Amino acid sequence: VDSGYASEDDDSERDDDSDGEDSLAILRANTYERDFAVRWLTAVIARGEELLIEDDETRTRIVDEAAFILASFTESEHANHDESLTREFSFSTASGQSVQVQLNDAPLSGTDHTDVGLQSWGASIIMSEFMCAAPKLFSLDSIQPGSTIVELGAGTGLVGLTLAKLLPLVLDVTPTVVATDYHPAVLDNLRANITTNFAAGAPAPIQTSLLDWSAPVWSPPLDKPTSMLVAADVVYAPEHARWLRDCAGQILSDDGVFWLMVTVREHGKFEGIPETVESGFAQEDDLPRRGGRVLKIIEKQWCEKKSGVGRGDEKGYNLYRIGWVKI
Ligand SMILES: C[S@@+](CC[C@H](N)C(=O)[O-])C[C@H]1O[C@@H](n2cnc3c(N)ncnc32)[C@H](O)[C@@H]1O
Repeated sequence: VDSGYASEDDDSERDDDSDGEDSLAILRANTYERDFAVRWLTAVIARGEELLIEDDETRTRIVDEAAFILASFTESEHANHDESLTREFSFSTASGQSVQVQLNDAPLSGTDHTDVGLQSWGASIIMSEFMCAAPKLFSLDSIQPGSTIVELGAGTGLVGLTLAKLLPLVLDVTPTVVATDYHPAVLDNLRANITTNFAAGAPAPIQTSLLDWSAPVWSPPLDKPTSMLVAADVVYAPEHARWLRDCAGQILSDDGVFWLMVTVREHGKFEGIPETVESGFAQEDDLPRRGGRVLKIIEKQWCEKKSGVGRGDEKGYNLYRIGWVKI
């Protein structure tokens, strides 16, 4: 299953290629075509070693891609199912404990192309796992008391919920996490996920807030600078990187850090989107400024896709560390 999501501005594009999508949908629903594709792919995988291709890397890639497509047949059967899916995540921490998060992945409406945050995406799983395994790498152990951590485009809230459970294991005084999104149905599902993960009675160390990157309003609890911004799989339209950069420029504290995990998709309409992050930070004149400093990408790290995590078209993930740098 590829990512197939759309941004709010994609409607015109969808109209243009709706004929192509309709005929693809008809093909996918045809049992004969499907059985043929399953047999063909199974044969490619079974005979991978015998393929008359000398280059090992190409042969491995063909077999991997055939396996992804084959797996997508089973995934799409589940995706078509009209019921919500409860997903349990367990991440090992550096200190040998584990962080457990339970999420409701609601079905996408099928009519609203912007409700992609009802499902958890591969980048949020990889980022949560990484933070638990290496909290020091993210400087989680040096977050100051009274700080706020803000998640942008939180979706089901996996990263924010993981942080809310991990921080008490690495710090004495736990900061508040604010998980934000702009979509009403996504925010409802996010609130339900917080209730599932934190018992009623005591105040949860995570709260939600509406925040639209294209027109951010900095009202409580987002009215003070944050020392850490986190976001996973939030760049999937050309304007997203610029909006996120400008939001960060407004809310990130002087010594704050913005951890941005961008999904790299090799094929289809999302190919090239990751480059918009780097080009969005390339022109120094366009960058947010503060007291002789500009907001810049300080470091980039490649994270491999893991088998069984994320959609078939995800190749891997770029993790960016973004912060204020002297001009
Ligand atoms: C692909 S989902 C990723 C969700 C989650 N971070 C994850 O990795 O599972 C993208 C998220 O960004 C949110 N989003 C898209 N455009 C937005 C905007 N302009 N302002 C705020 N959130 C937005 C969507 O509602 C959705 O929750």
